Amino acid sequence: MDQFVNPESGTVPFYLPQGDECDVFAAAHRSCLPLLLKGPTGCGKTRFVAHMAAKLGRPLYTVACHDDLSAADLIGRYLLKGGETVWVDGPLTRAVREGAICYLDEVVEARKDVAVVLHPLTDDRRILPIDRTGEELQAGPGFMLVASYNPGYQNILKTLKPSTRQRFLSVEFGFPKPEHEVPVVIAESGLAEDRVRLLVRIAGKLRGLKGQDLEEGVSTRLVVYCATLIAQGMSFDRAVQVAMIEPLTDDAEVKRGLADLVTAVAG
Ligand SMILES: Nc1ncnc2c1ncn2[C@@H]1O[C@H](COP(=O)(O)OP(=O)(O)OP(=O)(O)O)[C@@H](O)[C@H]1O
Ligand SMILES: [Mg+2]
Repeated sequence: MDQFVNPESGTVPFYLPQGDECDVFAAAHRSCLPLLLKGPTGCGKTRFVAHMAAKLGRPLYTVACHDDLSAADLIGRYLLKGGETVWVDGPLTRAVREGAICYLDEVVEARKDVAVVLHPLTDDRRILPIDRTGEELQAGPGFMLVASYNPGYQNILKTLKPSTRQRFLSVEFGFPKPEHEVPVVIAESGLAEDRVRLLVRIAGKLRGLKGQDLEEGVSTRLVVYCATLIAQGMSFDRAVQVAMIEPLTDDAEVKRGLADLVTAVAG
């Protein structure tokens, strides 16, 4: 489990909005409503949440969900400490107590008992019952639950039940338009604009192949990686190979096809 607390140190992580998502997030927070972010990998969901938490001045607890993540991992458990049994809050409980934002990344991965915990927290009751201690916490106005998932990985076994997803407002994220992606990649990598424009054009072409040869299109994260390598002196071709071709596929023929496409675009 990966969790960190945003120390509210005053620095707001850079996030360039693609639309009105910042307003939706702020309205959800104000109205005490949970929010679900849907979108492909590397399109800015985590950065968006970090940005909004800092902007709203709330601490942030992030939990990367996995297929072994249980309700106890979120709520807490009794642990042996120096011969004594002590209760230790999990990240969700801490977030409720502190009026923080709790971000459950890839929530569909979590075990089924997690949904049971989320339900009373994500309807108008906003309560977190802690069976093991007999406590029942009432979430204050600062608390907000944010979850994300990638509908692309969705299969019949791993999807949210309607009773869960209909408890969340939902915002869909996609790959940013070039006019958004270019400034993001420049800001993140420091690479010159003409080079970045070319990379973003290549990314757009590669994304066009999604569904045919590729499971997912190249993410903004990979474009940022590629630009960072070039800014640090790596050759353009090599950076594209290691950051925008190899991460997408293991199939030699598909890789050759992608490389040809890059050559056609880059000239
Ligand atoms: N709108 C944006 N503003 C600023 N940076 C962005 C934006 N979109 C993408 N990025 C960049 O892309 C990188 C990847 O974004 P992020 O980690 O938030 O993706 P994600 O959607 O959470 O992916 P995953 O589903 O794999 O967790 C960020 O580190 C940042 O450099
Ligand atoms: Mg993320």
